Amino acid sequence: MKRLGVNIDHVATLRNARGGLHPNPITLAKEAINFGADSITIHLREDRRHINDIDLKNLSKTKIPLNLEIACSYKMMKIALKSNPKFVCLVPERRKEVTTEGGLNLSKYFKKIKFIVNKLNNRKIRTSLFINPSFKDIVYSKKINANCVEIHTGKISNLIKKKKNYSNELEKIKKCAKYADSLGIEVHAGHGMDYKTTRILSKIKEIKEFNIGHFIIGEAISVGLSKVIKKIKKSIKK
Ligand code: PXP
Repeated sequence: MKRLGVNIDHVATLRNARGGLHPNPITLAKEAINFGADSITIHLREDRRHINDIDLKNLSKTKIPLNLEIACSYKMMKIALKSNPKFVCLVPERRKEVTTEGGLNLSKYFKKIKFIVNKLNNRKIRTSLFINPSFKDIVYSKKINANCVEIHTGKISNLIKKKKNYSNELEKIKKCAKYADSLGIEVHAGHGMDYKTTRILSKIKEIKEFNIGHFIIGEAISVGLSKVIKKIKKSIKK
């Protein structure tokens, strides 16, 4: 069975725009699970631009299967060990980026990432590395002892959205997924996905989990608009 992880970072982005409590990421995380999501993903960024430490604390108190994305730093590792989520995904992080723009540089940070993964593995937290679809990074992931890799799907998602030829990128992802699976690494996919990209990528049988954020939250706003307008109109009439 393929699983869906819902990234709720942008619920926090909306909440933070007004500095209040609405919309509440914890309430929406619970709803997402009730509606069939298998897990909730949050990225606790070092600049705390969306999800913050209180969100992490509150989510950790629930029974929601939590996938915590963190930068590869000892400070973030300590936070992860303290909050003890079910899953951790290590991601590259740059302050000036709008979103996570690519996979980890595993050759450059090999020792540090291996150390962090080892600490998390010892605590029985499932570990995942966010990587570009490359054989080299899968070999590194195996050497690092990560339980999973999450393949960055930003490039293929952009090609599909722009109606460009995506067959080379799809082939690359397919081969990498197969290779990782043959080494006993569970394969996930994430970034930039929408209905169409998910449909295309879910044909790759080795991909077991999809982590989707921006599109789901954006689409939920569009789909939910009519319901909210009707409710507000009723309030105006009273
Ligand atoms: N997976 C990882 C590791 C991410 O960092 C992100 C957010 O950048 C996502 C999945 C979700 O991406 P999106 O919001 O584009 O669906």
